[in-house]
Amino acid sequence: MDTTSGIKTPYYLYDLDLLRQTLEEARQAAGRYDYHIHYAIKANHNPIVTGIINDYGFGVDCVSGNEVMEALHRGFPAEKIVYAGVGKSDDEIRQALENDIFCFNVESLEELQVIDEIASEMKKTARIALRVNPGVQAHTHKYITTGLDENKFGIHPSQMQEALDLCRTSQRLDFRGLHFHIGSQITSLQPFAELCNRVNEIWKEFDISSMGATIVNLGGGLGVNYEDPEGNPVPDFQSFFDVIAENLRIPQHIQVHFELGRSLVAQCGSLITRVMYTKKGVDKEFVITDAGMTELMRPSLYQAKHKIENTSNAGETFLYDVVGPVCESSDVFGKAVELPVTRRGHILAIKSCGAYAESMMLRYNMRARARSYFLDSGEFAKYDFLEKDLRNVV
Ligand SMILES: Cc1ncc(COP(=O)(O)O)c(C=O)c1O
Repeated sequence: MDTTSGIKTPYYLYDLDLLRQTLEEARQAAGRYDYHIHYAIKANHNPIVTGIINDYGFGVDCVSGNEVMEALHRGFPAEKIVYAGVGKSDDEIRQALENDIFCFNVESLEELQVIDEIASEMKKTARIALRVNPGVQAHTHKYITTGLDENKFGIHPSQMQEALDLCRTSQRLDFRGLHFHIGSQITSLQPFAELCNRVNEIWKEFDISSMGATIVNLGGGLGVNYEDPEGNPVPDFQSFFDVIAENLRIPQHIQVHFELGRSLVAQCGSLITRVMYTKKGVDKEFVITDAGMTELMRPSLYQAKHKIENTSNAGETFLYDVVGPVCESSDVFGKAVELPVTRRGHILAIKSCGAYAESMMLRYNMRARARSYFLDSGEFAKYDFLEKDLRNVV
């Protein structure tokens, strides 16, 4: 389908039918074990996308006060919002308390003390889970690994006893349980089995049940197939949850929560871009697109690879370096990408851009904000919303 006539490129194109199918499969797979999913809104906060996610009854995982306010504004119930992040400001904590979110995922002893103080000042109770850094290798890119000693996230087990003691003595902290998140784009299920083993050990070592815990939150991280998105449009949620159920050994009554981001939204989005120029380099040919790292930062941030298709041509293929227009040498979508003969004016679709693309958009080089469009019941749709409609409150 030529979705570009009369529409300014670059733009994000979301297949809402695939989004709904993905959400339905995730909901059913989780439902078999009575697991709870919070959508990690950092992956994509496009209001049309989050509106549909809310329809499926998921909660939200936030990492900033603005994300909390955006989730509330989109109608997600406060009692399904969890809030992580190593640097929550006092204002953000206050605002989350005012709005009675379900749970803070607390990342340090000092943060725990600050939440305790602010809750006391406000005469509120703060429901908290302690985010533990479990020392589990996620086998993913080092910039999206979060559960190792070298990472800034979570509380090291050596400080857990002190944190639990503070929870026990505080009048204002309502300890709900433990939180973990070991990284993102994890393509083997083995790290999740290892995570469960660590959770089992930590639960026992610190006698978490004696603290009146009701939840464990295992975070997100389930990867998607960037090489073959058409062949793997929906991640295998069932196998993921099966591995958790097989390996997690904590009391039956503990609710198990997840924070899935990428796996819910990555495959439903593409970045549509026009070829502005081609040029000969030494031993290579460049294709210069009107989208750049400003619309899709993942390749320049952590050498991520996205499948690229030329939707204007087919036939014999050549190798091209596909690059953006931004004034940075790292503004490269792919080197030696196999494409049919590609010329100025051709339209390229960069696949798997539903997660961490639009939400990471930059204004660097004073670039214009790319818009988003939708395929809904197979039809091209423009659902207008304004940037100012996004929350920007704290
Ligand atoms: C605390 C936390 N939870 C959940 C996620 C979502 O991860 P993913 O998109 O890989 O599922 C992230 C992402 O970095 C995160 O930091």
